Amino acid sequence: MMNSLPRLSKSLRIGVLIAGVVCLATGLLAWNQVQRERNIDIYDVDKRAHALIHQLSYTMNWALQKSDQEIEGTLGSQLEGYGRLIGFAVYRGNGELVSSAKAVSEYSKMVQDIVERVLGSRTEVTEISRSNGPLLHILAHPLKSKEGQIVGVLVAVHDIGYIDERASARLIQFGFWILLVLLLVVTVVVGTMWIAYERPLHNLAQWMRRLRLENAQEAPPRGLSNELLESESDRLAATFRAARSTGRARSRAQVRAERVWTRDRLRAHAIDCLGENRQLVIVSNREPYMHQMNSGRPRMIIPAGGLVTALDPVLRACGGLWVAHGSGDADRQTADKHGRLTVPPDDARYTLRRVWLSREEEQGYYYGFSNEGLWPLCHLAHERPVFRASDWKHYVRANQRFASAVLEEIGDGGAVVLVQDYHLALLPGILKSARPDLRVGLFWHIPWPNPEAFRICPWRAEILQGMLGADLIGFHLQQYCNNFLDTVDRMIEARLDWDHFAVELRGHASHVRPFPISVQRWTERHVPANDKLAQLITDIKQQNKINGELIAVGVERIDYTKGIPERFRAVERFLEKYPQYRERFTFVQLGAPSRTHIRRYREHLAELEALADEINWKYQTDSWKPIRFLIGHHDAATVYAFMSMASLCIVSSLHDGMNLVAKEYVAAKGDNEGALILSEFAGAARELSDAHIINPYDIEQFADAIRDAIEMDPAERRTRMEHMRRVVEEHNIYRWAAGFLTELAATRATVAVPAAAAAVS
Ligand code: F6P
Repeated sequence: MMNSLPRLSKSLRIGVLIAGVVCLATGLLAWNQVQRERNIDIYDVDKRAHALIHQLSYTMNWALQKSDQEIEGTLGSQLEGYGRLIGFAVYRGNGELVSSAKAVSEYSKMVQDIVERVLGSRTEVTEISRSNGPLLHILAHPLKSKEGQIVGVLVAVHDIGYIDERASARLIQFGFWILLVLLLVVTVVVGTMWIAYERPLHNLAQWMRRLRLENAQEAPPRGLSNELLESESDRLAATFRAARSTGRARSRAQVRAERVWTRDRLRAHAIDCLGENRQLVIVSNREPYMHQMNSGRPRMIIPAGGLVTALDPVLRACGGLWVAHGSGDADRQTADKHGRLTVPPDDARYTLRRVWLSREEEQGYYYGFSNEGLWPLCHLAHERPVFRASDWKHYVRANQRFASAVLEEIGDGGAVVLVQDYHLALLPGILKSARPDLRVGLFWHIPWPNPEAFRICPWRAEILQGMLGADLIGFHLQQYCNNFLDTVDRMIEARLDWDHFAVELRGHASHVRPFPISVQRWTERHVPANDKLAQLITDIKQQNKINGELIAVGVERIDYTKGIPERFRAVERFLEKYPQYRERFTFVQLGAPSRTHIRRYREHLAELEALADEINWKYQTDSWKPIRFLIGHHDAATVYAFMSMASLCIVSSLHDGMNLVAKEYVAAKGDNEGALILSEFAGAARELSDAHIINPYDIEQFADAIRDAIEMDPAERRTRMEHMRRVVEEHNIYRWAAGFLTELAATRATVAVPAAAAAVS
């Protein structure tokens, strides 16, 4: 109750304020009314005085022709007053008093003055004034001869004290009513605020306190005046409980896991999680190893992108099967007749099964629905999604093809299937309807937007139902989980369990959890050791004419979500603002062409080339260019060399699920000598808070961040990098995979066939 007192006094203050305004307004109206009535009363007296004067003036004109004594005798008592009329007085044209009522003589001085004014102005004068006694109304009227000469003045005097008394009485009456209104308004306002806001908010605050301190299980208090607040507090409680239990689990895990997760540890853990006779199957659109024809011979390429970077080490550690689209032009000839091959080619660890799609299918499913529809739908980068019915048909068919390949590969055996990303949203539903016993997880590598953004998708219900075929749905961030549950809540008929972050659709439960994805150590990959690295760096610098002492790097697929134009502009602004860095600072952008059959991507690449040229033209010298834009596929060793030589890495995504380049760079900085500039809109910013966090749209701030990162105290730079390295080391890709498998193993087996198949029939 103590806590509520200040709030009550706040309501009281508001109540008094409102009542004050109401009273002031009413008071002004009342005052105006009283004044109006007073004027009416005075007007009545005035009329009456004129009527009386008019009646007497004829007699007076006649009488003034006589002597004063005769007049006295003639008028007799006619000048005396009655009621509120005090009486009359009559003066000659020279201002001498002829006769007056007895009562009027008390005010003779005042009356005489008024008579003088009448004689001076030759017009009638009305005066309302107070002498020592009551308030008087005095009307002095000039009496004129036929020739227009003023022969006298007739004066009528009224006592109008009663008018002021009446006005005061009315004011007191109004004051009383105003006071009553004041009390009423204060009571109503304070009461309403207390019932509608203060009490529910007070209860909400108490409940939140209990939730925080005592881990209360009770539901949030009802009666909040705002529905949104009510449902948000429901979710807050659920998130809080989920976070608390994750926190507990995490701290238990921390006690158990004294060592960092490694490949071997994951392998052992995977065996536990998968159980007997269950193989691990990863399904994605993008294959981890692609073969392209090069000078008449197949050449193996590791495609750019976070998915492959993250999942190849997992399957290398655990063994199993990876089903993916065979999109390379030499893929068929490097696989067997079933589309299978073992990978990595030089050190076989798992099987890659390629799925073949026709050119039309690839166009509709991959370029069309996935990358012109879902990609811009989920990334808030101001690119309009395009949805075509023909693309959707191909998307459905392609998902069925992937499903057939998976089912064919696993035969009758058990399997844990990890479906990857937005290309395969329908796959969990199709797999579960065919094989309810399969344990199916889905990891969504890109952001999940809010329901308002998602609802524009014409096949929103089908996509959600397809995804809900999975037992576990993972996103990078809790925020995406919240958005997803919100979307399900608003778009389809399903039962939501906010406490456990789960959705039940026709008897099947899907759990929704955040799993921030990560990377492995560089030393586990085919990258040169220190001595060879130094040589590689020298070669690369020579080859690309990189001669500034300060090198910054960006590594991306060329995609409009990555904020590369903003980055170029920031470099330009940096050199403009801080000219001392010209010829000393070089920004290298490694850009892998991506999705080039989509016009927007081709245009974006052309825009970037033009922009880099424009900026270079502005600042370049004979021996230096500020931006080196290296377009092409770069292997891991080259990327590692660039990251190692760069004292700065720039990640400026406009929106990004996680962004593994940021983590790769941190992992490459074994000597802690480097700084990271990181967009606040990349999921990685949540974990790498020691980076220089920027808003990529704010070019001024961005340019200053480059300067800050360069000029930062070296000791602080090392400390910040060390912190980030610890985060990436401890939360590496093995921990991510272990977390996902553990959670998936913990989900109960499916009890019914989900409805997703309906979407694709
Ligand atoms: O970031 C989303 C994502 O699909 C990743 O999962 C993948 O690494 C990257 O984009 C590459 O895209 P694509 O397969 O279209 O080249």
